[in-house]
Amino acid sequence: MSDRLTDSEQSQTWWSRAAVYQIYPRSFRDGNADGLGDLRGVIEGLPYLASLGVDAVWLSPFYPSPQKDAGYDVSDPRAVDPMFGTLNDFAELVEQAHERGVRVIVDIVPNHVSASHPWFVEALNSPADSQARRRFHFLDGRGESGEQPPNNWESIFGGSAWTRVKEPNGSWGQWYLHLFDSTQPDLNWDNEEVRVDALNTLRFWLELGVDGFRVDVALGLAKDMTYPDLIDPIGMSQSLRFDLDPTSEEAAQRRAGLANSALFDRDEVQDIYREWRALMNSYGNDKMAVVEAWVPPERASRYVSEDTLHQIFGFDFLVVPWDAQVMRDVISRAVEAVSVVSAPPTWAMSNHDSPRVVTRLGDGDLGLARARALALVAHALPGSIYVYQGEELGLSDVEIPDSARQDPVWFRSSGQQKGRDGGRVPLPWSGSVPPYGFTDRTDAQLWLPQPDGWASATIEAQDIDPMSTLNLYRASLALRKSHPGLASGEFAFIEIDDPGLLAFQRGADVVVIANTHPHWVESPRSGMVLLASGPIEVGDNGLRIGPDTTVWLQT
Ligand code: NOJ
Repeated sequence: MSDRLTDSEQSQTWWSRAAVYQIYPRSFRDGNADGLGDLRGVIEGLPYLASLGVDAVWLSPFYPSPQKDAGYDVSDPRAVDPMFGTLNDFAELVEQAHERGVRVIVDIVPNHVSASHPWFVEALNSPADSQARRRFHFLDGRGESGEQPPNNWESIFGGSAWTRVKEPNGSWGQWYLHLFDSTQPDLNWDNEEVRVDALNTLRFWLELGVDGFRVDVALGLAKDMTYPDLIDPIGMSQSLRFDLDPTSEEAAQRRAGLANSALFDRDEVQDIYREWRALMNSYGNDKMAVVEAWVPPERASRYVSEDTLHQIFGFDFLVVPWDAQVMRDVISRAVEAVSVVSAPPTWAMSNHDSPRVVTRLGDGDLGLARARALALVAHALPGSIYVYQGEELGLSDVEIPDSARQDPVWFRSSGQQKGRDGGRVPLPWSGSVPPYGFTDRTDAQLWLPQPDGWASATIEAQDIDPMSTLNLYRASLALRKSHPGLASGEFAFIEIDDPGLLAFQRGADVVVIANTHPHWVESPRSGMVLLASGPIEVGDNGLRIGPDTTVWLQT
């Protein structure tokens, strides 16, 4: 395999080296003092984001929605939910972000809509085989009176992927498909109206000046329309979960099973993206789309070739263990997977669907040290990085009492899976007690409770602490942009005779060394320290690197 990406392979578009900050609007900042995050809060937060040094923001859904899956159940994809503000707020957000040099990416949710979307309401009121039902996957059930689901497909959130409806005359009738919650019916992408409507949605946001899209469940739009039973339906639906060691045999098998399967990653899904790409190209060549598609490496390039979309999320850092050899393996595969089509790799250490990286790597001081060290690995790699809000503050997952949980995963799995709420808690901005400046309404009941003990985690507190994770992120984001070695596409591993060290070179003169040992090591390379995630010592015998620490050296 090739460990190298040269400058010519790495295109010069803004997104090929971007640091993109993911905003989860309900938890970022409350701008109208009602206790819930909103678009005005995002506008207020722009100076902070600019000072962090991000190139773009990606906003998770803020569209009208009953909020059964925190907005990923959209009832109108071309509007703003009043709980988040207005279209004017959005237009102002784009304008102000652009003035600060920050681009705006919005989330597109094409696999499903909310059960309260007018199309689904119409389908429920229409007979079997009607045009209204053909926009979804409505099928007759099996069994004598159709009382069993059409096949054995499972929802990713748990339970059957089929729900039976009451027909307009009050009798039990057909079943509809939902890969997620029953309030999220899947659209039928064989239907022309569905395709046209999605193009209208893209056009709508492009006209408002957005710079790109994040495509939800991008691997799932096309289904096997013969609806076959699956040999391992639970395995298939669980294969998208973020809790497997990416190098394990089980993960490899599950991901291989996804490729061109009945539910995911079907070859014909690329026909959809070719249409999208043509539309996006008509708005100039600096619009981008990043796809959520956890597919085996050999399938990744299909999503990001010249006539499909632009970027595919690299999810391996969401699960990678703190192990130098595994990290090396994961990095090699990720770089190789997209380099065949000259697309830049991407690195995400956390997002709204996964545990926070500090918690995942051991929690407390240990987890924080490793998370900071992993960040300096990710930020030094070629390609783009995605930073999930609060990651730059080194936040951990919050213990949510079961009675306060909101995630449909918790409800659909009957409490078997805790769900994703722990990483979605409103951000701490300032002060020493909840709501930590998140909202001006101090008696607000937040949608998820903040913990005690976040006083030193706030943006205000970290801003003035030179050793804070916030200031580490500021420094690394600035350097990855300004240092020619880091900004170049050149990348190569350095062979080191110690399995606990990961080392690679960027450009002519930057060396990155991660010490995954729980003890100090002599640095195998010397140079001027550009940045370190943890303790280092420079003595007569050279540089020593502390436990769970990454350094960037200028050699
Ligand atoms: C992926 C999103 O990131 C997740 O939050 C959501 O629950 C599912 N897709 C369904 O839209």
